[in-house]
Amino acid sequence: MLEVEDLRVTYGGVTALDGIKLSVPDKGITAVLGPNGAGKSTLLKTIAGLVKPDAGRISFRGASLLGVAPEAIVRRGISMVPEGGGVIRELTVDENLRVVQPKKRQGPDGKSAGKSGIDEVMELFPPLAARRHNAAHSLSGGERQMLAVGRALVSRADLLLLDEPSLGLAPKFVTLIMQTVRKLCVERNISVLLVEQNARSALSIADQAMLLSAGRTIAARAAGDLAKNEELWHAYLGY
Ligand SMILES: Nc1ncnc2c1ncn2[C@@H]1O[C@H](COP(=O)(O)OP(=O)(O)OP(=O)(O)O)[C@@H](O)[C@H]1O
Ligand SMILES: [Mg+2]
Repeated sequence: MLEVEDLRVTYGGVTALDGIKLSVPDKGITAVLGPNGAGKSTLLKTIAGLVKPDAGRISFRGASLLGVAPEAIVRRGISMVPEGGGVIRELTVDENLRVVQPKKRQGPDGKSAGKSGIDEVMELFPPLAARRHNAAHSLSGGERQMLAVGRALVSRADLLLLDEPSLGLAPKFVTLIMQTVRKLCVERNISVLLVEQNARSALSIADQAMLLSAGRTIAARAAGDLAKNEELWHAYLGY
């Protein structure tokens, strides 16, 4: 679904990505792991069109994304939750979800297709339901993170780019977010590129994984295989 080849990104003199290759299938979870500064966020931002690469190719469903505006990339079906959550501080929880909700789709029988994505998010994240009419800036860090993930769910993207969705969450909610991402992936048949510091949690739900360090790919393999490789864990993930 998404193909990245020979991707190189520099910020001024700093090389953030150096020859990255990545192939993301049309369903399933691909975990992107690596130490701080490895280039994980840069990779997601470049795919989302927020950072211009110096070299390389990115294509989605066979069409190049290079030079395509970020909002046009969203329309093609790619939605990103940036690091630290992407919410509009001034809007309420409800409004944050409504602005990303696509127009009502009709089911094959002409009826509208099931309950709204917003109701689904409220069911998934009870703490959000309780704060539905509060402004996003008044949420706790964890609640904001849930709202950010909720927005990605409501947007009905085919490829979700999640940059550390569990950041700042209590262990119980890390598990909730991970399970939600897995459930979504299975139920909606979508694809997720998941950047995580919580490497164990990410690998527990991922199908494949790539390990980045200093802008280079150290390993790309089945998630279960990476989970077993103690040498790599020790060298790059600090365990
Ligand atoms: N806007 C920027 N200007 C200059 N350098 C940047 C910029 N954004 C990132 N960098 C540098 O590029 C490298 C990769 O950063 P990136 O944010 O992609 O890392 P990361 O893997 O997401 O790290 P973390 O786990 O800390 O979020 C780092 O050396 C960082 O300092
Ligand atoms: Mg980052």
